Amino acid sequence: MAALLSLLQIACSLHANLPQSCPQSCLCYDSSNLVECRGLELLVVPHHLPHSTWMLDLRHNNLSRLDPASFQALWSLRILLLSDNYIEVVSSRCFRSLGFLERLDISSNLLISLPLDFSRGLGSLRELRVPSNRLTSLNYESLRHLESLEKLDLSRNYLSTIEQGAFRGLSRLRHLHLQSNFLDSVRGGYFFMLQNLELLDLSDNNISSIAVESFTSLHSLRLLALSENQLSHLKFKTFLNLQTPSTHIQVSGNPWVCDCDLQRVFGKINSVRHLHIDDYDNLTCEGPSQLSGAALVSVDNQLCVAETATVLVITITVLVTVIAAIVMAERNRKKNQDKNWNDTDGPFETQDK
Ligand SMILES: *[C@@H]1O[C@H](CO)[C@@H](O)[C@H](O)[C@H]1NC(C)=O
Ligand SMILES: *[C@@H]1O[C@H](CO)[C@@H](O)[C@H](O)[C@H]1NC(C)=O
Ligand SMILES: *[C@@H]1O[C@H](CO)[C@@H](O)[C@H](O)[C@H]1NC(C)=O
Repeated sequence: MAALLSLLQIACSLHANLPQSCPQSCLCYDSSNLVECRGLELLVVPHHLPHSTWMLDLRHNNLSRLDPASFQALWSLRILLLSDNYIEVVSSRCFRSLGFLERLDISSNLLISLPLDFSRGLGSLRELRVPSNRLTSLNYESLRHLESLEKLDLSRNYLSTIEQGAFRGLSRLRHLHLQSNFLDSVRGGYFFMLQNLELLDLSDNNISSIAVESFTSLHSLRLLALSENQLSHLKFKTFLNLQTPSTHIQVSGNPWVCDCDLQRVFGKINSVRHLHIDDYDNLTCEGPSQLSGAALVSVDNQLCVAETATVLVITITVLVTVIAAIVMAERNRKKNQDKNWNDTDGPFETQDK
């Protein structure tokens, strides 16, 4: 029995060391071009994967780190699926030989950060998915070499800071998912250079301020999602800077302070032909307290009434004052004239006496 076991072990190790063969317990299709090692509780990436592997499916395993040698010499790899593992560490250089990789999915893992040279060698990558991890910040360097990237999903992380220029190398990017993070502001330099961006999802963050020039270079933007944030006011100029053929904007689920300013900003945005607020009917007021919970659309034509009334009162007051002043002046002039007559009469009279 023991002899049989050791024989089996030898056979297995021989099998494992044999290059170009299907890794143990994985399934290989299409003459080993598609390697599926799904749900096998693997702790490490299998060694000696066939060099011709085109797609590698390692989803639902127990991987906790990706070592520099994990994907060595997989020159043909196009699709790499690593979602639903326990990956905490991606060592630098681990994707270096994957020059033809087009799709990389690391969703639902435990990544806290991306190494600085994460993107080195990934010049063909078109889609990168890293949602549902624990990323807290995005570094200036990490995404630098992804010049073919079209879709980037960083949603459902803990991102609170994005270094200015972190997306600067992504000139082909069309979709950027940053929803469900902890961003508290949109700074001017975040989306600079993203001229092909069509979708920018910033919903479900903690955004309370947006720099006026934030969206200036997004000439292809079709959808801007800002719903479920902490916005209470907006500046018209922020949106006026969106020089696009047509952009839909979503802003519901924010604690709007419904005043005349806000009403005017939305009024102006709505009057710009290429800008569309999709969920205007769904906006609710959080302040001022007497309007709390009211739908903006139900009060918006009253918001500037008070202001108009004030302006009217001031105008009338000024007018009345001016008229009064004129009348008084006229009266005084007449009085003075009369007095002058009297005065001029005076001397004669005295002379006469
Ligand atoms: C893989 O993870 C599952 C779930 O945490 C656990 O039950 C299982 O024991 C792990 N397997 C190995 C080989 O570590
Ligand atoms: C959201 O931002 C506010 C300040 O605007 C801060 O007090 C709060 O802690 C932030 N919440 C989260 C979850 O980051
Ligand atoms: C408005 O809110 C309702 C109810 O919450 C929802 O069903 C609808 O899809 C929303 N409309 C838009 C345009 O977001």
